[in-house]
Order: sequence, then C-alpha cells, then structure tokens
Amino acid sequence: MFKLNENYLKLPGSYLFSTIGKKVNAYSAAHPDKKIIRLGIGDVTQPLAPAIIEALHSAVDEMGHAETFHGYAPDLGYEFLRDAIAENDYRARGCDISPDEIFVSDGAKCDSSNIQEIFGLDNRIAVCDPVYPVYVDSNVMAGRTGTYDKNTETWSDVIYMPCTAANGFAPELPKETPDLIYLCFPNNPTGATVTKAQLQEWVDYANRVGAVIIYDAAYEAYISDADVPHSIYECQGAQTCAIELRSFSKNAGFTGVRLGFTVIPKELKCGDVMLHSLWARRHGTKYNGAPYIVQRAGEAVYSEAGKEQLKQQVAYYMKNASYIYNGLKEAGFTVSGGVNAPYIWLKTPGNMTSWEFFDTLLENVNVVGTPGSGFGPSGEGYFRLTAFGSYENTVEAVDRIKTLKL
Ligand code: MLT
Repeated sequence: MFKLNENYLKLPGSYLFSTIGKKVNAYSAAHPDKKIIRLGIGDVTQPLAPAIIEALHSAVDEMGHAETFHGYAPDLGYEFLRDAIAENDYRARGCDISPDEIFVSDGAKCDSSNIQEIFGLDNRIAVCDPVYPVYVDSNVMAGRTGTYDKNTETWSDVIYMPCTAANGFAPELPKETPDLIYLCFPNNPTGATVTKAQLQEWVDYANRVGAVIIYDAAYEAYISDADVPHSIYECQGAQTCAIELRSFSKNAGFTGVRLGFTVIPKELKCGDVMLHSLWARRHGTKYNGAPYIVQRAGEAVYSEAGKEQLKQQVAYYMKNASYIYNGLKEAGFTVSGGVNAPYIWLKTPGNMTSWEFFDTLLENVNVVGTPGSGFGPSGEGYFRLTAFGSYENTVEAVDRIKTLKL
C-alpha cells in the first residue's frame, strides 16, 4: 500500500493566496454587481513592454523554421541570456559573477522552494517574521521544520527573526545559530529594505558561523536609494556564503511568461563540495529549462529599448505605491514600505486583526489586500497592499478606503 509524504499533512490551511482567492471569489459570486479592486497578490497588470513583445514575436518566427528551430535549452540556460545577466545585473554593479554561475529557470518562486533540496534535512532554517510563505512551506514539505504549534503559529525547528516597527522591519542577528538564512530585500511583504552596511553584517555573520544566506532579490528593480544594495554580491565575502534568487516577474512583468534565475558562486562550498555542482546536478536531472522564446524575451529586458521601457513601467508602479502610501498616511493610517518596494505595509486600525481588516475592506469598499498574519505571527495587526494594480484602480481603491469610518 502506498504511503503519503506525511509532511504535507502538517501544513496548516491552504497556500495564502489560494485562501484569499477563494474568499474573494465567494464574495464576488454572492455580489456580482460589485466592482472588486484587487491589491492582494503581487501580480502585475501592465502589458509587456514593446521591446519584449518584439523579441517574443521574432523568437516564435525562428521556431517556425527548421534552420532556426530550438529544442531543449542548455541545462543552465542560453548563453546569450546568462551573458546579459552577468553583464547588466552583476558586473555593472561591481559584482564578480560569471555567466556560468547563473542558472536560468522559470521563476524565483520555484527556485526559492526547490533550493532547500540540496541541503541536508538536519539544517536549521532562519526566516524573517513576517515572511513570504514559500520559504517555510517548502521546508515543511521536506520535513525540516519540526512540529507546528497552532497557538503561536510557529514551527518548533524554525528560527524566527521578528521584523517589527521597533526594528524598522529589518531582522536582527538570531540568538540561535542557523544553517540556512532566508532573506528577502526589498522585502515581501513589508516593503522594508536594508542598507549595504546592514547586509554586510549578515554576510560577515554567515561566513563566521558557516551558514548559507538564500537571498531573494526579486524586487531589486524598485530600489531608488543609493545605499540600498541591488545584489548581495555587492557585499564583501558574499561569494562564499550566499545564493541569490532573481525574477523577471516584477521588473519586467513576466508573471505570466515565467523566467527567473539563481546565482550560485563557485566559491560557495561545503568542505570540498561546490553547491554549484549540486544545483547543476539537480537542474540537469529535474529540469528542462525555460523556453527559448522566453529566454529571448529575457534578453530583450537588457536591450537599450527594453531598459528604458521597463524603467517607465517600474516608475508607473512606484507612482501607485506613493499614492497608496501618501493617501493612507493622510487618512491617519500608520504606513511603511512603498519607497524602494512595490508593497505598502500598514497597521490595521483600531486593533483589528489582519483578517478582520481584510473582511472589512472586502465587504465595505470591495478592496482586496493581504492580511499580514498570513505571512507569520509578527504580521498580525498588519496588512499589505500592492502597487501592481492599474493607476486608476489604485486611486479608486485608496479613495474608497478613505471613506471607511474606522
Ligand atoms: C506575493 O503577492 O507575495 C507575490 O506575488 C508572490 C510571488 O511572487 O510568488
């Protein structure tokens, strides 16, 4: 008789964004006349930039001719894309990352959940609290998190690093020593950032205790402050302790196209073993690569026209972010984030729980956001709004929220 992976049974509830989706669909079915504005999941709304559309069309045409047809992609991704990434995302910022340290994939969500596979089950993970749920859930599925305590909503074997108003939503070095440290900056969900000096402390700490930092930089395109690093490899010594995850979803609108990459420097080793070799082995065995046409679209992100068009797209979303931030602040909310990140993190009014505020917004003004408690216990009493809506919807949502009598 077959057996289940019982770790899956330990997962409490469904995936956060599926739960929200179900609630919103139920409300919408019961109130078909209401116009719901969705500022919950961080999904983009603006069309792909013209340079990207052009690259997609031309790659599709190539696929229609025997001479230019492409089958399986190379394991690590096409060289044309890895060269463009190494040059623009790393060398241009003074980071010594070579194309063969870059693994192209179909997105950062998959990479952030799969990367734990190359580490032993007895590694202790440390996560920010609140946190993007994928980091924890993927470790639960693997059996690395111990038992779940319903009251505290925490796992016995996970080290939580609270990110609160008191510490500016930036984690402090943990008291217990972790083996794997998940960091995401600009942060999802709080929109907080760390300076290069702060990130350097984490790199020094990881090298000192022999931990690996899994650094999710999916939102780096939204950084405008000069002292906020775009990559962890801007810090000295990160090559020996950090893996970086990147996405094309937020900087280029690829949520429905799917493209991302992971960087594993060859200097990052456990004894004599390069983590790069293990991930390469996994990639070779379990993955057949992002489609050729999508990788060509990714290359166009780095073209002169692509860069200019995407700068405007990011500015479009950041205009939404400042409308939300300023509008809610004027209305008396306590808000943070939204400056170097497309997420606005607000304190729920009147001591409402995160889910109470979710229901209040949905039912009274038909606006959807994400309850902070869905990201972890320290998210209770907070709420996340995304800047990825259209400008018109964003303005309408904020104006509707302002009418609430709280
Ligand atoms: C979010 O809303 O947190 C993001 O859309 C999640 C993701 O990028 O997978």
